[in-house]
Amino acid sequence: MRLAAPPTLLHDVIDDVADVVRLLEAHAPYTPLGGWYNPGADPHARTRPMWFQNDWVHDGEIATGSELFLRHPGYIEAAQQYYGATVVEPHSVYVNHMMALDAGGPAHTDNPRFHGRDRTNTPMWLLRTMLWSGLFEQFEIAQATAIWWLNDVDGGGLLYWADGPDQPPTEHVGAMANTALVGDNHKMFHQVGPVGPAGDGTPLVSPSAQLGPAGGDEWAVLDHGDEVFRAPLDAIRVSVLWKADVYRNESERDARQASPLSMADVASAFDADLRARGSRLRLDLDQLESPELRAAFALVYPEPRPVGALPSVYDR
Ligand SMILES: [Fe+2]
Repeated sequence: MRLAAPPTLLHDVIDDVADVVRLLEAHAPYTPLGGWYNPGADPHARTRPMWFQNDWVHDGEIATGSELFLRHPGYIEAAQQYYGATVVEPHSVYVNHMMALDAGGPAHTDNPRFHGRDRTNTPMWLLRTMLWSGLFEQFEIAQATAIWWLNDVDGGGLLYWADGPDQPPTEHVGAMANTALVGDNHKMFHQVGPVGPAGDGTPLVSPSAQLGPAGGDEWAVLDHGDEVFRAPLDAIRVSVLWKADVYRNESERDARQASPLSMADVASAFDADLRARGSRLRLDLDQLESPELRAAFALVYPEPRPVGALPSVYDR
């Protein structure tokens, strides 16, 4: 698979950071990452680290004021240069707040999309296998990512595998406030390092915990009415993520959008490759939920494991 080029570091990204603080306040509260995704889970069980996430721009919904990021001219220009492309179509902005994580986030690449195939119609494991197989590159939707940081906190660096997963990572840490990294996080592994304040392990909260402003410059986490954490916003690792679809030019966009992949196309491409490899495995479209099928594909088309990754709070 083609690797991503190293990302571009931008400085002094937002003219007046107070605008972002007002945006953060206006769109509070924030809920734990994955808090919504556990049907049947005990809503009172404290199972989530204090990693909160909300969408500001998603599926055409735009939170008031988030155009500050969505239409950022510096991001669009950096993405054009990074990809050598003229068409950059921003589609997502979301916010992460992290605090008191004594291990890292997961080392990962962001989930891929293809023309005709995305998470609304295709299992995520298959989308990821399609990416790592390298068989569907002409159908991939190139997506630029920018990650922006509000402040400098205790820890909270970003490890990124700019030279590929088999080379040691680079770390952006220290002077992160009002910087952004623009690159391809769908093809470059990356990982958040441990975030302070340190010394209290990784306190867990329930899926319905909420983070929001608590007066002055303080923010607090309320969990079923109990205040379980309080800190100045300065001490909370806040990042804002931006994603855009990228096309070399309008004719490339039109041609790619005009030829979406069907599930039958996916199966026949895999089956032809498997046959060429001498494998008897086939993509049985009636078995897409089968753990055995998924495991068999992971053996033939393994996802790389980046060297030097830190332990993750989600591995526990
Ligand atoms: Fe990511």
